[in-house]
Amino acid sequence: MQMLELSHAPLSEASYSAVEFEPETGEVVMLDQRLLPTRVVYNRYKKPDEVAVAIRDLVVRGAPAIGISAAYALVLQAWIEKGDQRAFLLANGVAARILGAARPTAVNLGWAIARMSKQAASVAGFSPPERFEAMLREAEAIHREDVQACKAMGRLGAEHVPQDATIVTHCNAGALATGGYGTALGVIRAATEAGKKIKVLADETRPYLQGARLTAWELYQDNIDVEVITDNMAAYFFQKGEIDFCVVGSDRIAANGDVANKIGTYNLAVLAKEHHVPFTVAAPFSTVDLSTPNGAMIPIEQRPRDEVAKIGTTVLVADGIGCRHPAFDVTPARLVTAIYTERGMIQPCKGETPAMLRPQ
Ligand code: MRU
Repeated sequence: MQMLELSHAPLSEASYSAVEFEPETGEVVMLDQRLLPTRVVYNRYKKPDEVAVAIRDLVVRGAPAIGISAAYALVLQAWIEKGDQRAFLLANGVAARILGAARPTAVNLGWAIARMSKQAASVAGFSPPERFEAMLREAEAIHREDVQACKAMGRLGAEHVPQDATIVTHCNAGALATGGYGTALGVIRAATEAGKKIKVLADETRPYLQGARLTAWELYQDNIDVEVITDNMAAYFFQKGEIDFCVVGSDRIAANGDVANKIGTYNLAVLAKEHHVPFTVAAPFSTVDLSTPNGAMIPIEQRPRDEVAKIGTTVLVADGIGCRHPAFDVTPARLVTAIYTERGMIQPCKGETPAMLRPQ
């Protein structure tokens, strides 16, 4: 495994990181998740638009990790731009627009860019080195807060996980998708740390296989019992009574508690309802979008045909035949038993909404 080489301890607090910043050389360092699980390779980026391409091409993915990556990209911009206040703000604005367009569904991206742009506005009059330091401090705060949020929601969710549970999860909502520790996998990690005996069924997650390639890899590193199932097997295991609990992450939670997450999440929620199994979501409050009233208003990213038509270079669907690839779906609030956040828990199926957790 290629080691992560940094001049400081990784903010992920783990032996691998989705994304870090190297202040000695002015580089965003990303684990190339397209190559996992067979190769562990870190890419280094020196320009914000390179980071935008890396986000679009899924080198880094997962809503919180995308937001942190964009924050570090704006630190890169502050490293590069040595002009006056006006030039700095202009360059920040251009980079922010390019980064913001990289992926539409994960609201953490826009949230992190807005927070960094606010910081840019307040430090624009500083000298270039001071501006860089201040932008780096803000991006690192976003990164550290995300790790702490994951641990807090993990502890909260773990209290609700049965003692001896088989848990199904979808996509990857782990350390690789966040600043570190993970949201849904944070709940699983915290339950394990609390001494509960956990077995995980990881949905393979067609078409990009985040469950098979990433979730299984992460849990295996932590010695957590995991087996991979193809997405169409979940119903079989529910019917057999083998699943006790579902936990997934989210890319955007609307004001009414509707939850957007990786395509196929809604299938699990419907199955969970039919089989009376709790369907839960773990997400930081930066994933909550109070300005989007309901799930129908969440923009759903449509990804390229070839991600469905091929696996690697193997062609599955003959040329000329269309494929559809909505990357996310929306689970209605009524199917969501609980959402765990760093601020507490809500129960959308009982009509509770995220605004309840807004500081007064
Ligand atoms: O397309 P991806 O891999 O970025 O989708 C990721 C997911 O759907 C995750 O479940 C979500 O971002 C939550 S990550 C903590």
